[in-house]
Amino acid sequence: MTHPDNCSPKRILIDTDPGIDDAAAILLALASPEIHLEGLSIVHGNCSVQQGVINALSILELAQAPSVPVVQGCELPLVQPALLAPETHGERGLGYAELPAPSLQPLPQPACDFLIERTLGAPAEITIVAIGPLTNLALALRKEPLFASAVKEIIVMGGAIRHEGNTTPLAEFNTYVDPHAAYILFHSGIPITLVPLDVTYQCILTEAHLQRIEQVPSPISVFLRQATRFYMEFHDEYQAIEGCVINDPLALALAFRPDFCKYEELYVDVDISGGVCLGKTFADFYRMSGKAANMRVALQVQAEAFLDLFVERIIALSQKILAQEVKRMR
Ligand code: RIB
Ligand code: CA
Repeated sequence: MTHPDNCSPKRILIDTDPGIDDAAAILLALASPEIHLEGLSIVHGNCSVQQGVINALSILELAQAPSVPVVQGCELPLVQPALLAPETHGERGLGYAELPAPSLQPLPQPACDFLIERTLGAPAEITIVAIGPLTNLALALRKEPLFASAVKEIIVMGGAIRHEGNTTPLAEFNTYVDPHAAYILFHSGIPITLVPLDVTYQCILTEAHLQRIEQVPSPISVFLRQATRFYMEFHDEYQAIEGCVINDPLALALAFRPDFCKYEELYVDVDISGGVCLGKTFADFYRMSGKAANMRVALQVQAEAFLDLFVERIIALSQKILAQEVKRMR
């Protein structure tokens, strides 16, 4: 139900492998009044799904958002062997950040059942922001045929169209780790917005952005400093990038600021043939396949405008947390 001026918050479920940039996306969602965060479904990827659940609960406690449901999903890809990313996100998935063990618990419901239940319970109302390997979504699609028509849209952080890969020379991490899940989603008929490396690699969080965030010192700013310090060291060592690519927050931001990007409606597929192109996403720009577009792809981004929003929202979240702590101490 939306008000006449469409001011009601957008209902969002985030499917995530938290992960440092995932954590930043979760914080951005909690900092943005345009979003109602309906839940976090956790998937294998940057770290194990078990560690991802712990990280998600810890991040919610850090942001004083204990009521957001968390559910555990798949710990393995559909076909491929497990592939985690400790070199990128650290052994426990949050870089050098050491959050207290969470007191919160996940719901005792598998992620695919949660995704099905919540979307069928609110048909055409819930947007899923998928920022990890797509295994949970593929399972939901196979388990419940009505899932595809119940989901309003899915914003997928994943793929590399004209951009080089970040996991193989051709493939991006989320589509490489579980290419079969990506294939199932890409051919599901669900309205998809793809947010590939082509745009996310223009969104580099730098030391200057962190120093702006640290103008309001808080547990949030301390966490982001510690988590991104590891992530920046990775980007420097492996890709000679000064800063770190915040892929997932861009995907989340497009849920309420789609104007940050320009899109093309394209037929996009993902290679599952098992060769050197495994997990590579490719777009039929010249429409040679004769196949109808199956998604809209973000190919241009106003990176500085997005990064400014990210910094401003994180500062606002810090100020909110600090005000709540002052109130609690009175
Ligand atoms: O390739 C970048 C994506 O893979 C991001 O979502 C990152 O968190 C990892 O999941
Ligand atoms: Ca991720």
